[in-house]
Amino acid sequence: MTEIPEHLLKKAAEARARLSGDDAAAPADDAAPASTPAPAPAAAVPAVVAEPEPPAVPEPDAPWVAAAKARKTIPVWVMPVLLFLPIWAIYYVGYLERPAATGGLAVEGAEIYATCAGCHGVGGGGGSGRALNDGQVTATFPNGITAGGYDGLAGQIAWVANGSAGTAELEGAATYGDPERVGGAHQIGAVLGNMAGFGASLSIEELVAAVFHERAQFGNLDAAQVEEELALLEEFIVIREESGDDDLVGETVEEISADLDEARAALGISEG
Ligand code: HEC
Repeated sequence: MTEIPEHLLKKAAEARARLSGDDAAAPADDAAPASTPAPAPAAAVPAVVAEPEPPAVPEPDAPWVAAAKARKTIPVWVMPVLLFLPIWAIYYVGYLERPAATGGLAVEGAEIYATCAGCHGVGGGGGSGRALNDGQVTATFPNGITAGGYDGLAGQIAWVANGSAGTAELEGAATYGDPERVGGAHQIGAVLGNMAGFGASLSIEELVAAVFHERAQFGNLDAAQVEEELALLEEFIVIREESGDDDLVGETVEEISADLDEARAALGISEG
């Protein structure tokens, strides 16, 4: 580094002396009589007060600066909100895309099935409720109308709406599901006791969504059948909601089958 010339060092030393000694003394003389007439503390107080004095002199703000300061600023909470906006946008778009691929009912069905999973298992393996997986649910409630004339989709919707006791009463039968089920028709209440009906606690859409979830996840339907049942169930919901009824309590298999036929006709799906 270069040497600092002697005369500059001397100037700097003088300047330092001026700042700490002479300047500090000047405002002290002004302040002492103004603040308090007592002479004794006057000497001690200015030494402390004088130091921050020079930078404290405020320049009057220019009008545009004053205007800028007076203007309302962006609230602090906006920052985290802005930060999360892109994350939310990605999440939102992702959420919109899923139903477009598999249908809103699939998403809703997975949510509602949480109510059923306690007894039927998350994977449909059963427990205190019947096993539904490996195509068992669609063995009980087949796709389309069977050769024997049983409408499996209508049967399952009615079953979930009315439960064991409601089905026994409404249908006047000891079994439920396809009477020609492989392995024999399922007896009501014979194996694991009764299941309660969900028609009162679930809306039409929620109940239908749960039924769709069970069929699409645990049934042995092929992709085309899943697609077709989804369209059919969505149309069924519209028809039911137009009828003014807001639940499926007390609906028989026959009544639900009639509405499904209307939906099939609207979509040009054959009943077979
Ligand atoms: C408290 C336990 C329990 C809950 C919760 C439950 N179930 Fe069940 N489920 C059963 C029992 C028990 C049976 C057999 C009833 C019988 O044999 O009468 C059954 C049978 C079924 C069947 C017939 C399966 C077959 O192939 O025979 C379906 C379908 C079904 N439940 C759907 C549902 C849906 C959908 C939900 C949720 C909305 C649900 N269950 C909630 C206990 C339950």
